[in-house]
Amino acid sequence: MRTHQFEVVVVGAGGAGLMAGLYASKTAKTAVISKLYPTRSHTGTAQGGIGAALGNVEEDHPEWHTFDTVKGSDYLGDQDAIEFMCFEAIPAIYELEHMGLPFDRTPDGKIAQRPFGGHTNNITGKPVPRACHAADRTGHMILQTLYQQCLKHEVTFFDEFQVVDLIMVDGKAAGVVAIELATGEFHIFHAKAVIFATGGHGRIWEITSNAYAFTGDGPAITMRRGLPLEDMEFFQFHPTGIYKLGILITEGVRGEGGVLINGLGERFMERYAPKVKDLASRDVISRAIYTEIREGRGINGQNYVYLDVRPETVNKYAAIDGRKNPDGSPYTVTGEQILAKLPDIIDFCRVYLGVDPVTQPMPVQPTAHYAMGGIPTNKYGEALADEKNTVVPGLYAAGECACVSVHGANRLGTNSLLDLVVFGKYAGLRAAEYAKGVDFTPLPADPAGFAREQFERIRNADGSENAFDIATTMKKVMFDDMGIFRTGKGMENALNVIRELKERFKHVRPTDTGSVFNLELMNIWELGNLLDLAEITTISALARTESRGAHAREDYPERDDKNWLKHTLAFVDEMGNVELRYKPVVITKYEPKVRTY
Ligand code: FUM
Repeated sequence: MRTHQFEVVVVGAGGAGLMAGLYASKTAKTAVISKLYPTRSHTGTAQGGIGAALGNVEEDHPEWHTFDTVKGSDYLGDQDAIEFMCFEAIPAIYELEHMGLPFDRTPDGKIAQRPFGGHTNNITGKPVPRACHAADRTGHMILQTLYQQCLKHEVTFFDEFQVVDLIMVDGKAAGVVAIELATGEFHIFHAKAVIFATGGHGRIWEITSNAYAFTGDGPAITMRRGLPLEDMEFFQFHPTGIYKLGILITEGVRGEGGVLINGLGERFMERYAPKVKDLASRDVISRAIYTEIREGRGINGQNYVYLDVRPETVNKYAAIDGRKNPDGSPYTVTGEQILAKLPDIIDFCRVYLGVDPVTQPMPVQPTAHYAMGGIPTNKYGEALADEKNTVVPGLYAAGECACVSVHGANRLGTNSLLDLVVFGKYAGLRAAEYAKGVDFTPLPADPAGFAREQFERIRNADGSENAFDIATTMKKVMFDDMGIFRTGKGMENALNVIRELKERFKHVRPTDTGSVFNLELMNIWELGNLLDLAEITTISALARTESRGAHAREDYPERDDKNWLKHTLAFVDEMGNVELRYKPVVITKYEPKVRTY
């Protein structure tokens, strides 16, 4: 077993991890550890844009961005943190630009911006172009740009190392335990500060836009170390995934004028969100699509609707909506322009569906997309131990695995890329500053003991159960009973099934007994993470007897601010018992109101 020593260790090399690594490495000896090659991280799949009120195309203000995010969160987001993020957005975009990120441009050379769901002109209530984009490859460009910056600044990378445990000594983070995938060897990373930036856990659900790597490793690890997870009941379904496959079709399609059409040929969002229609927030649109399908208005009665971005459709509805270009001329598009603005999703549809979006509508259905909940942190990325917001010394989290909470019960599109750039930076800065002021905490006698025990248990199981079957059953029940609409009865069923699966999981053993790239063993460990997080998600959801944002209960259809304007904190003890505690939402300027779009 090898031991490495770094002042700051970052786990994960997506946008948040790279930004944290870049900033921490300016003053502290820093390593970034990733189970993937960094540029394969899931940030690379983010498509439509990163939000910032630059006002390059139309009037806009960070205050409007703040209010839209508070409203989008269904008032569960912490308003101090939201305001911080929306004001930091503007310098963050210019920093990315100066790093070399190739944003699309307006005719006069400014960073181009497109409308996205829930982002509005706060005076007219109409959609405002706030998403800064690089075609529909914005995440890919951010990832490449940040990785190149990290290489330029000589950040040390450990690629294809799976972090499997957090070392805690006397309540302080003291490093992580990782397995080198190429050898199966355990490595100890002794650190003064640890930053988790491991991304989300969307692989819990059957239909998802999430990469195979999104198995909730960071939250599962910190939860096993007795730390709470916040607001896990809130998981976002993006309205437009490719039918059956779940692959993301960016909201940028609707930003460019695409519309959703049901089996009767209706633009049904007119009924659900009369003001902003296809650009309402994601929870509203996903529920609308699901309702259309459930009431028999899917295409040919099937479980999908059409997303139509054919120029003739865009031009027809743009004229009906009175949409204008910045110079006041009517908004129109051509097939060539659609191709130039949305090249990736056009490719995906051609390759995976044999459908050409320039001439044919795309079959879409909601897809599990984003975890609003995660490791609780403050706006500086410091991890929090309890409902009193006690900081865990030396532990930080940023990006999707963290819950700041800026997304509350429902994230607005483009705020995820923004979150990881802003909070990745501050987590990196804070961790490095902390590391400069403390000594290394001596390691325990056997720092890899807890991790080794977990892997020995898996290797020595009796092998009477199959990981694939367990994963398939988990995904299905979570999609059916813990999806867009929920009921107490359905969630209880999901919880029972997940608990049965956790018992069966104890009998799963890999058929590969080797050490070199034993991905079967790793996938089994990751499945354990997903099962643990599925259980926490369901328990947190069952307790919340209201509907808010992405948590839509048919048995409790109303938002209940009197009883539920609060964050959930779920703790798991060593015996696996779950305790729920709560803490208040931070309200600064915006008193909760009923949302309309
Ligand atoms: O629709 C999209 O391009 C996704 C963006 C996001 O999740 O923020």
